[in-house]
Order: sequence, then C-alpha cells, then structure tokens
Amino acid sequence: MSTLIRDMTRSDIDRVGEILYDAFTGVAAKYGYAPVMNCVQEGKAWAWAMSRYVSSEGIVAEVDGRVVGVVFLNKRGDVGGGGPMAIDPDFQGKTIAPQLMTAFLERGKSLSSIRVVQEAFNPTSFSFQYAYDFMPVADLLDLVLNGRARQCPDLQGKVSELTAQGLDELCSYDMPRSHFDRHTDLTYYVRWGKILVYQDAGEIRGYLACLPGTGAIQLGPLLARGEDVAECLFTHALALFNDRPCRTRVMARDGRFVRALMKLGFRLYCLSLLMVRGTWRPGHNIEAFGRFPEGV
Ligand SMILES: CC(C)(COP(=O)(O)OP(=O)(O)OC[C@H]1O[C@@H](n2cnc3c(N)ncnc32)[C@H](O)[C@@H]1OP(=O)(O)O)[C@@H](O)C(=O)NCCC(=O)NCCS
Repeated sequence: MSTLIRDMTRSDIDRVGEILYDAFTGVAAKYGYAPVMNCVQEGKAWAWAMSRYVSSEGIVAEVDGRVVGVVFLNKRGDVGGGGPMAIDPDFQGKTIAPQLMTAFLERGKSLSSIRVVQEAFNPTSFSFQYAYDFMPVADLLDLVLNGRARQCPDLQGKVSELTAQGLDELCSYDMPRSHFDRHTDLTYYVRWGKILVYQDAGEIRGYLACLPGTGAIQLGPLLARGEDVAECLFTHALALFNDRPCRTRVMARDGRFVRALMKLGFRLYCLSLLMVRGTWRPGHNIEAFGRFPEGV
C-alpha cells in the first residue's frame, strides 16, 4: 500500500467531510458519547470552512487515488494549532496517521509550539499524540446548553459588541495574554458572528467570540481577567442568543466560573485535554475555546 501525502485542494472537500464525519462519529459511538455531528453534511461544511479559512493549511493522505486521511495546521504567529485530524476508519492502524503527522510537523517546524485539543475518552488519539511529544497541559470541559437558559439572563451594561474599528485595540489586549496572533480569527468572528467586549472605565477586561454554526452557537474563544468578567460575558451572550443551543470548552481549573455556567443551564458533554508540543502554556486569565476558526 503506497501513500501519497499532499496539500488538500478544493476538490477534496466533500471526501474530507465524509472522513471527518465517519471518524469523529465512529469514535464517539465507540465510547457511548453523543455524536458531535448529526449528518455527513456537517462534516462537509466543516471541511469547506477549514479549507477556505486563510490561516489553515490542509494536508491529505491518498491511497490508490482515494483520500483516506486529513490534518489541518493553523498558524497564529509563532504558535500553531493542530486539527482536526482524522483517518477513514477502514484505514486506521495502517501507518497512514504517522505519515500525516510527520508531514504536519515538518510544515510546522518553525513554530515554537503547537497545541491540539482531544477528547479524553479517545485513548487511541491520546497515545498517538503523546508519541509525538504533545503533552497534556490542562483539563478542559466541553459544555453544551440545549435551548433555553435555566435562569433568564439579562444583557450586561459593561458588555458591548465589537465593530471592525475596534479590532486592533482588541488584538493589542489579546496578544500579550494569549501569546497568539489571532487577528485573522478575530476579524472572522466580527464578520460572521459577534465579539462581545467587557470594558470598565474605558479599559478592556475581557472578550467572548460567538459564532453561529449549523447546530449550535459556538461560544469561544474567551479571554477574561477574572471569573466575574467571564460570567458576565457568557450571561450577555445567552441573553442575546436566547433559546439557541450553545457549545463551549472551558478550563476545568476555573471551578467557580464553570459552576456559574452550570447554573445558567450548561451541561457537561465530556472531559478534553489541551495537549502542547513546545513551550506554550496557558496563562492565568480565564479562557474558553471555540471549535472554528480558532479551534485550538
Ligand atoms: C486519532 C487517529 C487520527 C489516529 O489514527 P490511527 O490510524 O488510528 O493511528 P495509529 O493506529 O497509527 O496510531 C495509534 C497507535 O499507534 C501508536 N503510534 C503511532 N505512531 C507512533 C509512533 N511514531 N511512536 C509510538 N507510537 C506510535 C500510538 O501510540 C497508538 O497506540 P495504541 O495502540 O495504544 O492506540 C484516528 O484514530 C482517528 O481518526 N480518530 C477519530 C478522530 C480523532 O480522534 N482525531 C484526533 C483528535 S483531532
């Protein structure tokens, strides 16, 4: 079996979408978790979005002219994000994944760090990534809110919606704290979703990006100075997106903030691990993560 590793092109989008759907649905079903995608169309929409997004590079593995695996590298300044990575279930355990990973690491070799997120219920993926020096650095909680918030949330006076004019100021706030250059991501959120900014006495204290998706509203990335600011931003978002399902991924260490989200009606979907290859580590701010485009 000979494998060709090459750049993903637009003509691969549908096939890559099938692989994402089959691989992620398969692993969730194997461990008794609800699927994160309801139909193959959601996988294709994800593949389309990844392939069109400017800071994301897709690499595919092809066997006998058929694409059987994919991984994306998302460069953000000196730090990168990996994923999603998926292998057609019929080709798992057949050395395709190591070949894709080698190409991925070669592509990202100038980066000081690469981070990935993976569900803790997925031991194959964990041992695979660990074998390539991705170390677990934080426990994350994937939270879902299906429909109406339990409490009736109010819009918050100190929270406002960012416009394109405020992007540079927000990046200046974000970069020294996250150590990511997320200008491209934040521009995308302003265009296709909303960025909520918490300000006090004219100073930014936190922000939350909100992106409508095919199923749920994705809440994150979030970066906030303190749990009260983070809670305020989420409360405002739920008041805005009343009755819509929402998803987010927060740090398990931020216990008081997580409990505030539970009181609002969020439920735990699963434990995930933030894995890093390199020197980057999470800072002391409250953070949440989105699935796309910031992803990890
Ligand atoms: C995760 C995934 C991409 C891995 O592909 P795969 O073909 O199953 O992986 P492989 O069989 O080549 O590797 C997995 C195993 O080989 C080991 N391995 C692979 N390359 C290795 C290396 N170079 N050195 C040491 N061990 C290695 C791993 O530790 C792992 O061991 P295990 O037997 O304990 O599970 C695939 O299972 C998949 O698509 N899963 C669903 C989607 C997903 O979870 N994506 C990852 C999160 S974004």
